[in-house]
Amino acid sequence: MDSFSTVIRTASHEQHVEAETSTFMSDLLGGRLGVDAYARYTEQLWFVYEALESGTGRLASDPVAGPFVQPELLRLPSLERDLAHLRGPGWRSKASALPATRAYADRIRACAADWPSGWVAHHYTRYLGDLSGGQIIRDKAERTWGFARKGDGVRFYVFDQITNPAAFKRGYRELLDAVPADDLEKQRIVAECKRAFALNTAVFRALGEEFPLSA
Ligand code: HEM
Repeated sequence: MDSFSTVIRTASHEQHVEAETSTFMSDLLGGRLGVDAYARYTEQLWFVYEALESGTGRLASDPVAGPFVQPELLRLPSLERDLAHLRGPGWRSKASALPATRAYADRIRACAADWPSGWVAHHYTRYLGDLSGGQIIRDKAERTWGFARKGDGVRFYVFDQITNPAAFKRGYRELLDAVPADDLEKQRIVAECKRAFALNTAVFRALGEEFPLSA
């Protein structure tokens, strides 16, 4: 039987391709959008990570979610530095969540409050992605908009305290494989992961509408 980490990876593969090849992501990575689109995307991530990370204190003692509460992953301080660089010191009062972002953040918050295993699904979808494809996005952003390598503007993608991402991801998969949940609950976690991907794709769709390419 496949390990849980393999099941969750396989189950979300198709949606991963969809997210990766979305119009907004393709345009962003293709260097076809301005830094304003990148800043708007970063701002949406702030709302997502605010939801994901604000409940971690309480989740640390939960048997399922607890092992996933790892300070080296926390992204909110980095996002805030990036946004101050991208938007200036007054960024927060001007930041607004797109409806799709609001829906995504609300769902994360509901899981964090009532269903720790569901929060794990969101945790996996974000952080394992940031540690993987995030590095491709950082490289592109540095080249396209001239940010200093691993500096202000792209700090979100820099995990200072994770020296060996490949080893970290192996350890993370071991945590997934050790999740104390029965088969039905694992199926629910997989379903929540797919929902998390869909919520991400919806944000990309909304961003794509806000930043259409002039033909
Ligand atoms: C253009 C954008 C993206 C690129 C280029 C990209 C690329 C990648 C690559 C190369 C991996 C494989 C890493 C490995 O095998 O260790 C990966 C894994 C992953 N990505 Fe993405 N990705 C992108 C967008 C996303 C998005 C939007 C999400 C979800 C929010 C996401 C979630 C994940 C997850 C959860 C994994 C880990 C899969 C696993 O091993 O269990 N990715 N990504």
